[in-house]
Amino acid sequence: MKWYKVIFVSVFALAFSVVTQASAMKSVTVNSHQVPLQPIIIQGPMPIEAQHFAALLKDVSIEKTGSFVFYKGTLNGYPVIVSQTGKGLENTAAATAIAIERYKPLAIINQGTSGGHDPKLAVGDIVLGKRVVNIGNLKTPSKKATEGSNSLTWIPMDIMASSGSAGSDDANKIRYYEGSPELLAIAKQVKYQHGKVVEGTVGSANFWNSELDRITWFHENFGTSVEEMEGASVAQIAEAYKVPFLSIRILSNNITNGGHYDPNTATECQAFVKDVMVKYIETLQK
Ligand code: 5AD
Repeated sequence: MKWYKVIFVSVFALAFSVVTQASAMKSVTVNSHQVPLQPIIIQGPMPIEAQHFAALLKDVSIEKTGSFVFYKGTLNGYPVIVSQTGKGLENTAAATAIAIERYKPLAIINQGTSGGHDPKLAVGDIVLGKRVVNIGNLKTPSKKATEGSNSLTWIPMDIMASSGSAGSDDANKIRYYEGSPELLAIAKQVKYQHGKVVEGTVGSANFWNSELDRITWFHENFGTSVEEMEGASVAQIAEAYKVPFLSIRILSNNITNGGHYDPNTATECQAFVKDVMVKYIETLQK
């Protein structure tokens, strides 16, 4: 081949490859339907409060960070992440913040077992958290040495009242966090066979109260239906990020009416929450 023919063929081949690559690139279109759906987070503190739900998911992958485990999967085709938070306010606040930053959830459900404050509620009944309150946020009145301590005289403290000191009197009030009205309305439609489902107030603190007078004091002054150790920390963080939140708690014990501890309630609660989620996902897919 003559030298000018070689140049012509090379230039032609180069131009052809640029054109085909460009047209190949043009065919990559961004389809708006492919925007990932925002997942729903279902939290449970202990393995018995999370793993039944995790087993109901399809296509599960597990992500771990620190002591936190996230089971990422789908329920009826919609992304759902079960978060095993560990017990208590600190673990659960951290798990909530991690979940919000990593997964940008559509909503968060905190669920699990609890102890009854309301004598009308039996072991196996379920409380839908119309509101959640931290019942460990308290101040004591002033007392001198040897005057002792009486928890029934303690004063509620709202740590979110201001950015100033919580010592001043304007912090002497109870802060309630409202459950998402939309999630609450859906949860109220779900049938449940093992007891009653009621709207109520969920009280949280790293505290297991077994003094009946103290339980009555919370029930009468804070309006608590049940106590547990997580919900209020989720409510506080979810509120900070404006993520819809609902607490769903089953009674595993209730010493106000002799209701003995039943660990099987943890599974019943997850089964109920699954039915709530199926209904919620139906509304999202309409
Ligand atoms: N008091 C406090 N927490 C309780 N829990 C169940 N019953 C009670 C109760 N009576 C839940 C907490 C925590 C674990 C100890 O069980 O939320 O995760």
